Amino acid sequence: MASLTVRQLDDKVKRLLRLRAARHGRSMEDEIRIILGQAAQATGRAALETINPPAPAADQQPAPRTIDRHDGRRRVLLIVGGGIAAYKSLDLIRRLQDRGATVRCVLTRAAQEFVTPLAAGALAGGEAFTNLFDPKSEFDVGHIRLARDTDLVIVAPATADLMAKMAGGHADDLASAVLLATDKPILIAPAMNPMMWSHRATQRNLAQLIDDGVVMVGPNAGEMAERGEAGTGRMAEPTEIAAAAMTLLDNAAGEHPLSGQRIVITSGPTHEPIDPVRYIANRSSGKQGHAIAAAAAAAGAEVVLVSGPVNVPDPVGVRVIKVESARQMLEAVEQALPADCAVFAAAVADWRVADAKREKIKKTKGGTPALSLVENPDILATIAQRKSGRPRLVIGFAAETENLVPNAQDKLKRKGCDWIIANDVSPEGGVMGGDTNKVHIVTTRGVESWPPQSKDDVARALVGRIAASLAGELK
Ligand code: CTP
Repeated sequence: MASLTVRQLDDKVKRLLRLRAARHGRSMEDEIRIILGQAAQATGRAALETINPPAPAADQQPAPRTIDRHDGRRRVLLIVGGGIAAYKSLDLIRRLQDRGATVRCVLTRAAQEFVTPLAAGALAGGEAFTNLFDPKSEFDVGHIRLARDTDLVIVAPATADLMAKMAGGHADDLASAVLLATDKPILIAPAMNPMMWSHRATQRNLAQLIDDGVVMVGPNAGEMAERGEAGTGRMAEPTEIAAAAMTLLDNAAGEHPLSGQRIVITSGPTHEPIDPVRYIANRSSGKQGHAIAAAAAAAGAEVVLVSGPVNVPDPVGVRVIKVESARQMLEAVEQALPADCAVFAAAVADWRVADAKREKIKKTKGGTPALSLVENPDILATIAQRKSGRPRLVIGFAAETENLVPNAQDKLKRKGCDWIIANDVSPEGGVMGGDTNKVHIVTTRGVESWPPQSKDDVARALVGRIAASLAGELK
């Protein structure tokens, strides 16, 4: 059969076709397919009628689009906005590919001041799109097709200007036209100067976008590209954006093995005050606990995440309760019950200062203050040993620097939980604060050692286990 491209059509037909495709919200190629289908069915109709027919009846409308995997891979359209964080979006392409996604890129005009279409296209493995009015790409792919032939649209960095355009429904360039034309979930990773972020206009636009169903990851707090500037406005890290993207894709794919289950998760360190300005803390980043919360939410669970002070963003679709001390964490966990499952991933301080001072401790000549410590409540043991209202599945972590598995087996018994996820936190392993983890699942039935993998992958695998256990497939 001869192949036909839109480019080969004459101008008048192209114009009619474009109008008709826009009216139906389809790409020109999809519109041609529908026209040809209808023409085949209604052979007696005149050619002109097939070019401009009444809108198809409801039963002729194409079926609503679900996730349609392309070679079994998820498809992401990455829109790169114009900000210094655009260089991180090149890494984001790789991080998405690592997670099995194919990536297409659109660069705004401002983005091209920071990264080139050549670099983005080379990493993505295909042309990067830049121009709404480029006849070649518009007829070959077209902005409607870019908007629809994807499972998720990510805007990273989402600049103040791009957010304003999205909130206002503008469509004067390829990025904004695609964002207006898409029927797929949109994830934005804002990045801008802290003053621009906190400006009422930006916050107004953000509220509108959230109301429109757009999901946000970040921005994080920290140093800005401009010297001496700090505050909230740094783009989330590529791994964080990729994790949020996977959550959204899982949600959209409708794979919800934890649907109807409630899960309480603790994460991060605790801070135990010494005085109003000093505290005892530890090196936990919260990455593993937060990744479990994100994966559980993606699997359809109702998730309450009780988090100590961390610098990682709140996971998508999770209720987050922020606490500082071990005692506050225990209280928040108890309030969040009942639950089907509880996962205790927090690195809770074992001790707190017996008499934390209300005023700042001052230096005195010839003496250093002595801190006397008292033991904190053991949150995991308290919940695992509850007589009533104990979650069906209680999971603890064991952070060890030596005798990993024997210590974890001992903890399993001592604390009364069902599983212990043991991980080696010696400094050489780089687990504390790092992005990878090597864990052993310790239960009364034995020990299973998982290979080293990203904390997101550990989280997804663990959530799979939890789902199987709650479904009665394993204990
Ligand atoms: N845990 C807790 N409350 C505490 C201490 C620990 O809920 N006060 C939980 C942690 O969240 C983790 C598990 O208990 O799930 C084990 O934590 P870990 O720090 O490895 O063990 P500890 O009980 O503190 O024992 P040790 O410090 O002797 O290794």
